[in-house]
Amino acid sequence: MSSLLPDFPWDTIASVKAKAAAHPGGIVDLSVGTPVDPVDPLIRAALSSVAEVPGYPTTHGTPELRQAAVDAMKRRFGITGVDPAAVLPVIGTKELIAGLPRLLGLGAEDLVVIPEVAYPTYEVGALLSGSRIIRADGLTQLGPEKPALIYLNSPSNPTGKVLGVEHLRKVVEFARERGAIVASDECYLGLTWEGRAVSILDPEVSDGDHTGLLAIHSLSKTSNLASYRAGFVTGDPELVAELLEVRKHSGMMLPFPIQAAMTAALGDDTHESQQRERYRARREVLRNALLQAGFRIDDSEAGLYLWSTRGEPCRTTLDWLAERGILAAPGEFYGPRGNQHVRIALTATDERIAVAAERLTS
Ligand SMILES: Cc1ncc(COP(=O)(O)O)c(C=O)c1O
Repeated sequence: MSSLLPDFPWDTIASVKAKAAAHPGGIVDLSVGTPVDPVDPLIRAALSSVAEVPGYPTTHGTPELRQAAVDAMKRRFGITGVDPAAVLPVIGTKELIAGLPRLLGLGAEDLVVIPEVAYPTYEVGALLSGSRIIRADGLTQLGPEKPALIYLNSPSNPTGKVLGVEHLRKVVEFARERGAIVASDECYLGLTWEGRAVSILDPEVSDGDHTGLLAIHSLSKTSNLASYRAGFVTGDPELVAELLEVRKHSGMMLPFPIQAAMTAALGDDTHESQQRERYRARREVLRNALLQAGFRIDDSEAGLYLWSTRGEPCRTTLDWLAERGILAAPGEFYGPRGNQHVRIALTATDERIAVAAERLTS
């Protein structure tokens, strides 16, 4: 099966990483979006409070967890009309995305649409199911095609671009006309810096009808839970019931202590907004330093990355940064159209971000 998949791209930056690591002041690794701030004590306490429970958890998750997800979506994003039965916990959203086309029964006859510059796992999931893939940001690019699944990712990884209500409405209308499912990856919805990002399930987008729509939410970034593996998918009750049925048979259940941790995380907005403010401050420092160093930053209104360019091939920029001990991700990891950009993550400590800014501006 692995021969169906692209080479693991991170292997291709090993030498540039070694170069950055040789900097006398140490590497500032801004290549991956992995959280560095500790898990909030409230979440850790919830995890350990059920550490003695020995039985199997359910694939559907506890009622408390599903209700907490519904309440959090309403409080944080104004998403209404979600039945707790239509919430399905997943073991981090990456596994869901990698498996989704297969779980939905897609195969060689089916077309999966992914953004032109995209989180690589959308392509991986489509390849694993044997489906055809088109990279497209606009519906006109699809011509008369009738896709089975359309991925959206707003705010985007890697570009930080936010799709407006009108754009999202058009995608929903198109999908309904052509019988496509829309899977909206909303991993960065809670990390918006400029303007407003809305969910595909927002009444302004869906008119309160979630048919054919799936929203994918991760707690990895907003609650620093990447190590715990915690996310959920929600939306169309029938689609979620179908996913639940298949995942039940495959043992795709979230560990019980993680369910408890997730319930606590979804029930508390304080740690989530504290984390957002940490990233906001880091973004400000890094953004100013990059602009001062002559970079142009495109999109990046939201999310955990600065989509940056010096108007040259991304590997050249990667080298320039590595000479200063800074590691970024080359834009071409995310699709051919990213080949003049680098993705610079905000996920480093305040100290490392300050070091990066100092190196960029001196
Ligand atoms: C756009 C996007 N979706 C999904 C994920 C997966 O997150 P997780 O598996 O930690 O929930 C990531 C992680 O970086 C991401 O950037």
